[in-house]
Amino acid sequence: MAKTISGFSKLSKRQKIEWLANNFFEDATAAESALIAWHRRDEQQQKIIDGFTENAVSNFTLPFSVAPNFVINGQEYAVPMVIEESSVVAAASSAAKFWLDRGGFRAEVSGTVKLGQVHFRWAGSPGRLYALFPDLKTHLLASCDDLTANMRQRGGGLLDIELLDFTHLEPEYFQLRASFETCDSMGANFINSVLERFGDQLEFFIETAPVLADHERDVEVIMCILSNFTPNCLVRAWVECPENELEDLARDAGLPGRSAVDRFCTAVRIAEIDPYRATTHNKGIFNGIDAVILATGNDFRAVEACGHTYACRSGQYRSLSRAWVENGIFRFELEIPLPIGTVGGLTALHPLAKQALEMLGNPSARELMMIVATVGLAQNFAAVRSLVTTGIQQGHMKMHLTNILNYLGASEKETVAAQAHFCRETVSFSAVRTFLEGARTRE
Ligand code: MEV
Repeated sequence: MAKTISGFSKLSKRQKIEWLANNFFEDATAAESALIAWHRRDEQQQKIIDGFTENAVSNFTLPFSVAPNFVINGQEYAVPMVIEESSVVAAASSAAKFWLDRGGFRAEVSGTVKLGQVHFRWAGSPGRLYALFPDLKTHLLASCDDLTANMRQRGGGLLDIELLDFTHLEPEYFQLRASFETCDSMGANFINSVLERFGDQLEFFIETAPVLADHERDVEVIMCILSNFTPNCLVRAWVECPENELEDLARDAGLPGRSAVDRFCTAVRIAEIDPYRATTHNKGIFNGIDAVILATGNDFRAVEACGHTYACRSGQYRSLSRAWVENGIFRFELEIPLPIGTVGGLTALHPLAKQALEMLGNPSARELMMIVATVGLAQNFAAVRSLVTTGIQQGHMKMHLTNILNYLGASEKETVAAQAHFCRETVSFSAVRTFLEGARTRE
């Protein structure tokens, strides 16, 4: 097995690259140079980046973009976005501009509660455990005093612990569900440390409780971990305006205003009805959300997992946004749980995450929740507006043209000519290649 290795993580970065280049690439020298080329010149900064994960051999670059003109609750923002998809930032910026002229966006946070679970097995009767629970809870709360002290000082900490009985679904399976306020941090390490303490102390308590008989002392903690589903860490963002102010929503598509708004609301309702459409609709929302989450050094997998579970809260996967007209007022809103932070973790370590947060005025976690939800809503607005009017490909392929031209090695002059030509023509990879071949033979 020449291409497997033990002790890879112990090799220096240089040795890792050499081993990879020699074993997995046709041209080892070219592979080595390509991987090394993205290494930062500033060794100190590179050390920080390498420290994020095990076995880092290079840096993977994505554009750090900005969508200006967001006004949220009267406050102006230029929003940092990290994303590779061509048209996303352009769409967010255009939606921000559109709503800038109509009073901007509104947003509010209705809760910031995070959750964690201790899953355990106990062979005794549920009634016995519930009778014991008030004492167990007091014991558990006291047992993590040292771990919660700092968070309590910041105004947060452990909020509550519940006992849940799942023995009707899995023999002997119970759960402790704890709720936390983690202030401006996402709080994953804090929550998991407290939960592991609970696991140990739960076992200790049951094994030593004087009221329990010997055959009731058998408790087994299966796992202690936060839950990424935080339905009470919730934010809502919305826009509204008189229906007749949406005339230009329709102008491009040659539709009368009323019917464009109607098509927009119908499109959103379709995403409430049909999970196949809802998945794509919500993907468009996450185009915006993930880009800000990444730029600010937050955990986009946690945010995605949570959002998709929330989209299923009725028992079926549905749209996260809603749109309707009432008494001549168009309203479009997005409600989503966003378990994020603005201190700790990568937010403090990643050099550009720091810049991103500063660009946003070093927001609290609550404020960042509002910004992120707003960008999700703006992105959704832009996508659905295109879909029900001009179609999505017009804007998308215009942006994608640059990627195709770069891939085909177009010169500056060829790029300008291609951009002029494809203003009127449909962009496709083969059409651009044919255009360039034609231009090159004409020269
Ligand atoms: C593409 O990345 C996102 C869209 O498909 C979203 C949508 O269909 O609403 C355009």
